[in-house]
Amino acid sequence: MLLHRYDTVTSTQVVARGLAEAGAPHGTVVLAEEQTAGRGRLDRRWDSARGLNLTFTLVLRPRIAARDAPLLTLGAAAGLAVAFDLRVKWPNDLVTGEGKKVAGLLAEMDMAGDRVGFVLLGVGLNVNQVDFPAALPNATSLAEISSPQDRTEVLERAVSAILAWCDHPDRLSLWRQRAHTLGKHVQIGHTAGVATALRDDGALIVGGVPVLAGEIG
Ligand code: BTN
Repeated sequence: MLLHRYDTVTSTQVVARGLAEAGAPHGTVVLAEEQTAGRGRLDRRWDSARGLNLTFTLVLRPRIAARDAPLLTLGAAAGLAVAFDLRVKWPNDLVTGEGKKVAGLLAEMDMAGDRVGFVLLGVGLNVNQVDFPAALPNATSLAEISSPQDRTEVLERAVSAILAWCDHPDRLSLWRQRAHTLGKHVQIGHTAGVATALRDDGALIVGGVPVLAGEIG
């Protein structure tokens, strides 16, 4: 594994961007024990207990058009779901069967013309944390759902699963098999209804309406 390991950084996304802009190859991993400004989706923060979990960014250099970038993240999430026996909450949260969140993915894209130059796939994976702040009642970890884990082994398993599935031709089928969301009543922004399907472009069909971005409330 092409691993760059840090103690404290602002965000592994920031460090990985610098490395990617300097030519870091596909599969480069930037791991930190602690982030002082960890980023979540939709401009939120990602706070993770120091030394207990995994916070890393993977540099990907897929040969794909920009419109296909969401499929990369769906594939990565599906691969992680299989690797750790989890489900995927649309678009790419890793949850238990009861819907508690174990991991989240954040993808940032760099364009080269109309193609993707690189993607920074950030992964926050709760591994050995068992006490969560009251503000995160829906958070859990691999340790809470099974037993304490060796973080090095978890990192290797996670990176292998992402690299194997992010551009796999069957990634959407795998996502659908692993879906936590399909068949459930969901609300995304102003759209509410039963989530019936994942379209081939990654849109979730909710009450017959395609939703391309957002978060299940
Ligand atoms: C989410 O909102 O669910 C996505 C969370 C992604 C967090 C990871 S931790 C490693 C990487 N660096 C960041 O600043 N964010 C991502």
